[in-house]
Amino acid sequence: MYRSVQTEPMKGDPPMSAALELQSYSLLDDAECDERIDAAKKKLGDRMTILGHHYQRNEVFKHADHTGDSLKLSKLASEDDAEYIVFCGVHFMAEVADIVSRPDQKAILPDMAAGCSMADMANLANVERAWRELSEVLDPDEMVTPVTYINSAADLKAFCGRHGGIVCTSTNAQQILEWSYSRREKVLFFPDQHLGRNTGYRMGIPLEEMGVWDFGKPMGGLTVEEIKAAKMILWKGFCSVHQMFKPEQIDAWKEKHPDGIIISHPEASFEVCEKSDHVGSTEYILNTIRAAEAGTKWLVATELNLVNRVAEEMKPKGVLVEFMSTTVCMCATMFRTDPQHLCWVLENLVAGNVVNQVKVPTEEAWQAKKAIDNMLDVSVAAGKV
Ligand code: 13P
Ligand code: SF4
Repeated sequence: MYRSVQTEPMKGDPPMSAALELQSYSLLDDAECDERIDAAKKKLGDRMTILGHHYQRNEVFKHADHTGDSLKLSKLASEDDAEYIVFCGVHFMAEVADIVSRPDQKAILPDMAAGCSMADMANLANVERAWRELSEVLDPDEMVTPVTYINSAADLKAFCGRHGGIVCTSTNAQQILEWSYSRREKVLFFPDQHLGRNTGYRMGIPLEEMGVWDFGKPMGGLTVEEIKAAKMILWKGFCSVHQMFKPEQIDAWKEKHPDGIIISHPEASFEVCEKSDHVGSTEYILNTIRAAEAGTKWLVATELNLVNRVAEEMKPKGVLVEFMSTTVCMCATMFRTDPQHLCWVLENLVAGNVVNQVKVPTEEAWQAKKAIDNMLDVSVAAGKV
């Protein structure tokens, strides 16, 4: 559970009243929440924007003013004028919204327990230790660009900002790696080994030149020779949702649908991505399937809420969309945001109370912003946003 900050009212804020208790919202049914959310949105008008990630469940997703993947939502947060940015997503997304928005804007996460298990696989102590250990073999500040996937805590983005590094998302990983290699000869990529490996391999980096850094072991479990030979050092992190997808599931489905098309998120394993016809971000997956011709069949390796929604949308158009895994695998932390929490934060805003604000400490935010701005600049130049 992440801590929220209690902020003092700013000049011009409505007077604060006692915060409305979350407990009284937990028993509301979804229909009542819908009505109250709509009413609160009307009252708040353009003082508040709701951003919704594609993995949000329908009951929440339908209330979003804008939806998108991590990159699109970061860009929207950097441009939005609203006083309050309510992020229906996970904690690192709300942190990014806080970092890229103006100091007088407030980022709010409806449920502070909505984290990301992959982001939790890298922490600052372990990354700093890796940097120290690498410096026993080479000069990392001369030779290694640290690249953090956006699915990481703000202090890791700040680490990248301090060390000439950059943030990436699943949309721009290739352009970010190109930027990184144009500066230094190696990359330390964290926390998701799969996004790093899948992207690097497609850019022509052989698997033998990718070392996996096991953060539980001294020197990441690598020898001096392995570190010297590695073009890319991949943190041993992964997404618990995307690791459920297996190449055998593709083979079994292909037997039933030999002409079917496979589309996967790059957090899926190397073996799954290699067997896929398309690999890309959540926004890319949606846009690709939405452009599909009638009669086509798609097997999708990404989170269940997105897949179910696009399957329903495409059914009347004669496009079959199926989920890759045989077991249900939702992102449990994305699922934590429910209409009850959303209603609670909005009605508090109407009452003049900011609850569940996500605020990154100023110095850390400033350093993290450097790495995020690097990413946004590269993404804009590449036409990715
Ligand atoms: P996207 O940037 O593709 O939306 O991915 C975010 C994420 O958390 C996927 O698991
Ligand atoms: Fe994190 Fe995986 Fe959930 Fe994405 S799907 S938010 S990477 S746990």
